[in-house]
Formats: sequence, structure tokens, C-alpha cells
Amino acid sequence: MSAETPKDTPQNAPKTEQHDPAVPDAYAAFMRTGWDDRDDDVARHPVADLAAVRRARLAEAFPGERLVLPGGGYKVRAYDTDYRFRADTAHAYYSGNHTSDAVLVVEPDGTSVLYARPRSGRDTDEFFRDRQYGALWAGKRPSAGELEAALGVTVKHVDQLEADLAKGAKTRVHRGVSAAVDGLVAGDDARDAELARVASEMRLVKDSWEVAELQAAVDATTLGFEDCVREWDRVVEHGERWLEGTFFRRARTMGNDLGYDSIVAGGPHATTLHWIENSGPIVPGQLVLCDMGVEGANLYTADVTRTLPVTGTFSPLQRDLYTLVLRAQEAAMAALRPGERFLAGHDAAMQVLAHGLDDLGLLPVSVDEALSPDSRVYARWTLHGVSHMLGMDVHDCGQAAPEAYREAELVEGMVLTVEPGLYFQADDLLVPEELRGIGIRIEDDVVVTADGIENLSAALPRTPDAIEEWMATLRG
Ligand code: GLY
Ligand code: MN
Repeated sequence: MSAETPKDTPQNAPKTEQHDPAVPDAYAAFMRTGWDDRDDDVARHPVADLAAVRRARLAEAFPGERLVLPGGGYKVRAYDTDYRFRADTAHAYYSGNHTSDAVLVVEPDGTSVLYARPRSGRDTDEFFRDRQYGALWAGKRPSAGELEAALGVTVKHVDQLEADLAKGAKTRVHRGVSAAVDGLVAGDDARDAELARVASEMRLVKDSWEVAELQAAVDATTLGFEDCVREWDRVVEHGERWLEGTFFRRARTMGNDLGYDSIVAGGPHATTLHWIENSGPIVPGQLVLCDMGVEGANLYTADVTRTLPVTGTFSPLQRDLYTLVLRAQEAAMAALRPGERFLAGHDAAMQVLAHGLDDLGLLPVSVDEALSPDSRVYARWTLHGVSHMLGMDVHDCGQAAPEAYREAELVEGMVLTVEPGLYFQADDLLVPEELRGIGIRIEDDVVVTADGIENLSAALPRTPDAIEEWMATLRG
């Protein structure tokens, strides 16, 4: 029997561990027989046709060139335990593929091949011994045929990639996603950076399917916020992590994951912009800033922030400060429309916040001087920009050129956040003691329409009265 058992080569030897029991030939041979290996009937994925159009546009930008977009592989968390896999955004956008270790290649003639790692056959031990790729350990991966049927693109085994890339063509690689793929093609940093830039810029304007995906992610996020308020007694009992965990359950149940680590910041933690430790208490009388977003099944994510009073009622001071941030957000939203600068929302919000800070007597110079580009001293308490693009990445299209993004005009179909905040650090000696340790941010996700914006996260209350009513209703 053992003579008929193909030996695993070093390349495809299953990754087994010290503590795994031995696999005698008799067991291996027996395991390799008697399986139903037919492909499943797979429906064409709605993204397949969109991805074909996206690839054609990408190919048009680089005529006669080969474009290589890896999806990435598993990352080790510790020893033999990996993080859950999530495909690189550009790879997923242009291929629709979410399986690990795949590489999309757009050939010079505009045709495309997805080099994938399909489910292993029964001719090696991989399917029952390999923890990363074995069907019996990690679940059944799609076969090449199933991937082709779902994504409408030619699929080859990833083992063929190296030989195919060796067939000469002017090649650009989306680098930094897969070290193995980066190593297959000699690098030209400037040309490769151009591919990354164009691949990112083409994602700036969302089509209606993408906007629907973003709306679904926002709707799931709204439900996640509601879950958290329904759990309020236990949130107060256990602290920030109970809220984090409550939201996470919704993200995993209705979506793929979180779009980013949830920021759950009680009291002074809210003045740390990316507080993801979430180890603190939730204290009555304080505020809690919750910046959370569900990533949907097709990887589009929400990014929403609400700052809530722990008792369910804002104190007069909290209400005043919250209202100032809300007015800044409304000014930003009113400034956004096609043809307007991307930064128009930011500038409008900063006008409101700088005047508010002046009213509080905090500015060391006149409000006009503080607002001048050479000063910006007010930003000690506003810290960050008011908007970023939103899509499959929470900070979407991050490799776009400034002229196409920060310095560009808004276009119908762009989706962005509007998220002003005020932050008074606990150790800031330049603010009155009563303000120290208060952080407030309000963040919504908006799509640019023909004549303005639509707020995708309008279902979550934003005014102090509406928040208090919403909390009271959900807490019963
Ligand atoms: N949601 C976190 C951020 O926008 O940076
Ligand atoms: Mn954001």
C-alpha cells in the first residue's frame, strides 16, 4: 500500500505539529479513499461583473503591461496560530476573491487569471493533516471550478504563478501584500507605487452596489450600537470591554468582522483618539465615546462614532460641549456637495469649533489668527481631520495622490466620514479643571449625491435630546 501512496513533497508537506499523533501508511492510505469530490453548484457572485469592469479600467491605465495584485496569506499570531485571514483590499476589489494566498494577474492583453490555492485533492495528506489549508482542519476551500463559477475569471493553481510570471512582460506588482510574490518580480519602486496609486484612486467613486454594501454595513452597525445600549446595566457593571464585546457579536453575526478595532472610551479615555485597549470602567456621570463599525460580508465597512452619557442624561456642561461638536458636524455636512473641495467640510467644522473654543476663553490668540494656516493653535483641542474616504478600508483609498483625494473636489458617489471632535486632555493645564478629561466625537458616514450628501448613518440619533430618548427607550 505504501508504494501507491504519493509522498508529500517538501513544498506540499502538510504542516503538522509535535503534538500530532503519528500517521502510519495504513491510516494515510485509508484516509485518501472514499470521498465525494464533486464540485458544489456555485452561483455567480454579484461582484463578478463589476470586478471584470474594474480590471478592464485598470488594464486601460497601464496598456501592454502585466499587473500583479496579491491577496496575501495567513499572518502568524503565535507559533502555529494564525490571525483570521482577510484578503488585501485591492486584490478583493479587482478580483472578488476572498480566499487566502491567491494572486490576481492582469495580462498585457487585458485578460486576467486568478492564481488561487484551491482545496487540496486526496493525493496528499494535506486535506486531513494541514492546519492552514486542510479541509478537515480549516474547512473546505473552494475548488478552482467553484472559484471560476463564482467570480467569472480564469483560475489556475498558484503553484503555476512563478513559471507564468517568468514569461517576459513589463510587470508591475502591488507590493507589500505578499513577500513571496514581491520576491518573484524585480522591484521598480516608482512604477509599482504608480500601480498602487491608480488602483487606490479607482476606488474613490463608489457604484450603487458598493453604496448598498456600505448602507448594509452601517445598518448592522446601528443594530450593534442598539445592542450595546440594551446591555447598559452590564456595560456599567463590567466596563468598556463589555460594550466592545457586545458590538463584536453583532459584527461577526451580520458581517465579516469589525472594520477596525472598536474604540470604546469611557471618561478621559475619550481624549485618546485610538483608544482600543478598552480596559477601563464605564462611570456614571461621565461620557463614553464609541467609535465602531461592522465590516460586511463583501468587506465594505461602516465607521460611526457616538458619544453617550453613561447615566442616559447629559449634564449641562456635557450638553453644551456636545452641542458645539454637533454644530461643527452640521456645518461640515452642509458644506459637502459635488464640485466642493474635499476639505470644505473640515474647514467649516473648524470655523465652528475655533469660535466655540474662543467663547470658552481658551484661545491664546484671536480666533482669526488661530484659524490662519500658519497658526492652527485651536487644533490642540480638535486634533484630527474631519473626513476620510470610506469603503472596503476604513481609511479608504489611502494610496491615492493628494491631488485626487485631499486636494480634490468631491464627486457624486464618494463616501466619506464627517467626524469632528473636541478633546480636553486630563493633564491639560490650559483648560479649566471642569473640562479636563472630556472627549466628544460625532461621526457619520455620508455619500455624495447629485446636489449634496445623504447621511447613511442617519438612523442613529445625534442630537442630545434624541440620544437621551433613544437610550431611555432601549434600556426600558
Ligand atoms: N474610526 C477611526 C478613525 O477614523 O480613525
Ligand atoms: Mn473615522
